[in-house]
Amino acid sequence: MLGKRSNKNMTTEKSAVFIIFGGSGDLAHRKLYPAMYNLYKSGVLKDHFAVIGTARRPWSDDYYRSTVVDSLEDVDDDEKAMTEFSKHFFYQSHDVTDSDHYIALKNLAAKLDDQFDTGHNRIYYMAIAPRFFGTVAEHINSEGLKTDGYNRLVIEKPFGRSFDSACDLNSSLTKTFSESEIYRMDHYLGKFMVQQLTDIRMKNKTFEKALDHKYVSNMQITLSESLGVEDRGGYYETAGVLRDMIQNHIMQIIGAVAMDEPAKLDSDSIHEVKRAVFANLKDLTPEEVDQNFVRGQYGEDATGKLKAYREEDNVDANSNIETFVAGKVTMSNERWDGVPFYVRSGKRMPAKSSRIDVVFNDKVEELGIKPNTTVTFLIEPENGSSILVNGIDYQSANQDFIKFPEDSHYFDNEREAYESLMIDILDGDQIHFTLWDELQNTWKYVDVIRQQWDNETPDFPNYMSKTIGPDAASELLEKDGNTWVWDA
Ligand SMILES: NC(=O)c1ccc[n+]([C@@H]2O[C@H](COP(=O)([O-])OP(=O)(O)OC[C@H]3O[C@@H](n4cnc5c(N)ncnc54)[C@H](OP(=O)(O)O)[C@@H]3O)[C@@H](O)[C@H]2O)c1
Repeated sequence: MLGKRSNKNMTTEKSAVFIIFGGSGDLAHRKLYPAMYNLYKSGVLKDHFAVIGTARRPWSDDYYRSTVVDSLEDVDDDEKAMTEFSKHFFYQSHDVTDSDHYIALKNLAAKLDDQFDTGHNRIYYMAIAPRFFGTVAEHINSEGLKTDGYNRLVIEKPFGRSFDSACDLNSSLTKTFSESEIYRMDHYLGKFMVQQLTDIRMKNKTFEKALDHKYVSNMQITLSESLGVEDRGGYYETAGVLRDMIQNHIMQIIGAVAMDEPAKLDSDSIHEVKRAVFANLKDLTPEEVDQNFVRGQYGEDATGKLKAYREEDNVDANSNIETFVAGKVTMSNERWDGVPFYVRSGKRMPAKSSRIDVVFNDKVEELGIKPNTTVTFLIEPENGSSILVNGIDYQSANQDFIKFPEDSHYFDNEREAYESLMIDILDGDQIHFTLWDELQNTWKYVDVIRQQWDNETPDFPNYMSKTIGPDAASELLEKDGNTWVWDA
């Protein structure tokens, strides 16, 4: 079927015991339990799975199950199914720094293995603060939690704060888990449109041919958010947009849009071509950081009702953390020689929008595409249902270089990012996860920017809340004779 996400094992039942470190937390309740419930409803999780939620607070199984059901409030109203689903959940009070607690965890997992006949398969999910990732992995090893089934470690961002700290973290994880057992989440790689990009490119040969320096004027990747830091000021003070969005999500989207055609549509082949993209990122000098990257921090909005970043809870009143980044990334390979990849991400922008704009030049007419055409892939908030050609839906655009003739239901049945990534984990497929060698290159790239910025004091705040970001972000493109396609 053209372009459809591979339907491999989409409804075949899987077996595993999940151990969720941070099972009482926000991520688990907002993302993991709803995703698992949808997999339960579609039969991917059925009789042979169990979930152990662990955290320090002393919850009972019953109370934990009631929180799981509560987390499904907006997902379904089938109370019977939700109650049946919650019977697979068990709570173990556990401090991740205490070795004895891992023994209790191991015994409970073994018991549930027998009870639910899960084939000794284990998924260890780190829904916990990053400072604990290494500790948990090391205890899984030292207390002998790994089994003779499969053992997969799922790790949330952030994966380190720099190249060096990412190396330290990786070393501590790989004492227990091999690279093929580690699933580094980047939820943008679970988003429908990002997953479809490869298929869309491979099935539309003219479009694929046009993705080349001969025909592309520039690429633009925007991940804007309308919210501020909300209650995550403490975390944000240690991160900033550069680490929180550019190093991972934006870089992975560059990988998906810039990679060469893979030999096959499987994990090894796709990572092989993606890896080459990150290896080809053109190194930046400190001067180039100043010329090609812009940082910003939001102030109040025009009405004074929205707080400036520096007034947010748990934020330093003189904070120099950036809430906005725009930049020009270039590559040293022939395909993308001289093509700017403009990237942009910020908080408190006018709207939430995640999009890729491919701006062609006039030579693209050689391929039968109208000169200066722009193709936009909308990742959010439309949840993946839209491709625009010059701002209108591709089906109405009267250009046929992108089409899906065999499948008019192309966009039906798309799964939420966490659901789709959970299936990959259960299948042992790393296709939509970040590999260690990719991360090393993206950290090295971003570290140069961070170091240069840490040497200079910015003049913050420099954009008002609910605006498109600092003027310098527009000037960055104007210097090259270009403009942002999305101007909210
Ligand atoms: N929330 C999101 O949308 C989101 C998005 C992307 C990535 N992440 C990442 O996901 C992870 C979890 O984030 P979150 O927002 O869910 O955090 P959270 O709501 O603060 O949850 C943290 C969890 O860790 C438990 N915990 C804390 N200290 C512990 C200890 N010493 N031993 C055992 N358990 C402990 C907490 O329960 P107790 O206090 O009872 O121990 C709680 O269940 C973080 O790495 C975060 O960066 C989160």
